[in-house]
Amino acid sequence: MSQNVAYLDHVMTRAPVVPVLILDDPEQALGLGRALVAGGLPALEVTLRTPRALDCIRALATLEGAIVGAGTVLDGIALAAAVEAGAQFLVSPGATTRLIDAAERSTIPLLPGVATASEAMALFERGYERLKFFPAEAVGGVAHLKALASPLPRLKFCPTGGIGPDTAPRWLALSNVLCVGGSWVAPADAVAAADWGRIEKLAREAANLGAAC
Ligand code: 3PG
Repeated sequence: MSQNVAYLDHVMTRAPVVPVLILDDPEQALGLGRALVAGGLPALEVTLRTPRALDCIRALATLEGAIVGAGTVLDGIALAAAVEAGAQFLVSPGATTRLIDAAERSTIPLLPGVATASEAMALFERGYERLKFFPAEAVGGVAHLKALASPLPRLKFCPTGGIGPDTAPRWLALSNVLCVGGSWVAPADAVAAADWGRIEKLAREAANLGAAC
C-alpha cells in the first residue's frame, strides 16, 4: 500500500517531539515509556540498535497511551520483525528501493529518511508525503529544510539528528515541519538511574515547545 498519510499525521501531531530511544531492557523501556507518556509525549521511536530492541517494542506496545514505533529500520527483515513485535509506525534513516518495496507490502506506515530534494522527490514519486529529514543539523539545518517548502509543497517532515530543546522551536516554526525527533528527552544517565521524574520533566518541557501544526 502507499504511505498512510492520515495515520502518520496522527502520530506526528500528537506532540511536537518524538523521542528517539536506544533501549535494551523491556522493564526499563516500560518505566521510561510511562514517564514520557505522562509528560505528554505519546509517540515513541525505539531504534533497532540493540539485541533486545524488539522486546522493548513488545513491552511498550502494551502501554496505555503510547504509540510505539520502530526506528533504524534498514531492510525488509527488520521491518517485518518490528511489525510482528507490535510497532505502530516505522522510521528509517534513509530509503532503499528494497526497503520501500517491503514497506509497500506492509500495513504499518513507514516514515523514511531523506537528506536532499532528489531523495524527497524519488519518494514522492512512490507516494510518500511524510518524511524524516536526517541528519537534520548536519545536512544543512533549518535553512535547508525551509528551502524545500516552496518547491515541494506536498511534503511534511520530521527533522531528526542533532536537535535539542534550544533549537527545536526554530524547526517547529517551519511550515513543512510537523514534529521533530530527538534523544535529548531520554538522557542515558537518567535512564540508567531510572530517574523517571527527571525524564517526565524533560518530556513535559518538550511537549510545551510549540504547537504541532
Ligand atoms: C539518532 O539517529 O539517534 C537520531 O537521529 C537521534 O538523534 P539525536 O541523538 O541527535 O537526537
